[in-house]
Amino acid sequence: MKSEILQNTIQKLFATDKGILAADESVMSINKRFEALNIPQTIENRLAFRKTLIATPELHNYISGVIFHDETFRQKIEAGKTFAQYCEENNIIPGIKVDEGLADFPNFPGEKVTMGIDGLRKRFEEYFTLGARFCKWRMVVDVKTSTDEIIELNSRNLAIYAALAQGAGVVPIIEPEVMYDGDHTLDECREKMSFVLTHLFGDLALYRVDIKNVILKTAMTLSGKQSLVKAGSDDIANDTSHILLSTVPENIGGVVFLSGGQTPTEASLNLSKIMQHGPYKFPITYSYSRALQDPVLEAFSKNTADTEGIRKIFIDRLNMNTLALEGKYTLENETGLSSHIDNVTHSQDL
Ligand code: 13P
Repeated sequence: MKSEILQNTIQKLFATDKGILAADESVMSINKRFEALNIPQTIENRLAFRKTLIATPELHNYISGVIFHDETFRQKIEAGKTFAQYCEENNIIPGIKVDEGLADFPNFPGEKVTMGIDGLRKRFEEYFTLGARFCKWRMVVDVKTSTDEIIELNSRNLAIYAALAQGAGVVPIIEPEVMYDGDHTLDECREKMSFVLTHLFGDLALYRVDIKNVILKTAMTLSGKQSLVKAGSDDIANDTSHILLSTVPENIGGVVFLSGGQTPTEASLNLSKIMQHGPYKFPITYSYSRALQDPVLEAFSKNTADTEGIRKIFIDRLNMNTLALEGKYTLENETGLSSHIDNVTHSQDL
């Protein structure tokens, strides 16, 4: 019964040519993005921005699911209707970020552990009742500085979270985010990702997580943002596709990419090239936050009331990523509406 619910969710999430919108920035994270664009950091503005995104007409043609943060999950998109109810009515699956962010860990300066295992079982029960059918938990890995010990601790928590999620009928997205920030090379990134993913899938097996009902959310294999030698999109696609084939079990529910601080055009181009390496044994799509939202947020900062204009930009970006899923995106496809941004905004909690 639970397994049927989980399978049904996965099938809908990986509907052909649709992506998953990550709109689950914590209050702190979205406030930082607002601050950078001089948008007042109020609950009203967070709600207004997310309403503008989610109530975009025809969103369901591009997006199969939305990951929300707890604050939004409890808000109403319109009188008498929660975001989750609205999504359900519009053929979009509501999801919830359930980790409680990152914390320092004694004796490992600079490293972060993901919090939120305590009380998680109860929280899942409530989120299921409120309509959540999938969820996300994110750990972060720095290519050069993360130690094996902290990776192992975070990875074990991801496996425990995944087991609890499945027990509650909620599909777990497991997100070991290997950070783009840093001056590492493409080779160093590939090596770290290989270690992280191999370890993580070992833990999932250890805790008997049903792999066909799991979604992996991963970064692409990239040279660091501050690296002097930047890898090109062909090498990025080659290495990313190789990592997927060598570390991800074939029977996994699916794989989604985060954008990680790439510009919107980079994220579309790299995705398109990765898709050209297919077909893969498992479904693949994108689950971007910044690469979808940054141009939209910039427009919102200029005139919060221009809902129609803001949504045009959003739809334009979604169109580009639909092309990318088909492996057909090139920079020539850009209309200019959503390709230019002044800055890539701050990442989710660091
Ligand atoms: P970005 O696409 O901005 O990396 O965000 C995706 C995400 O969900 C990070 O946890």
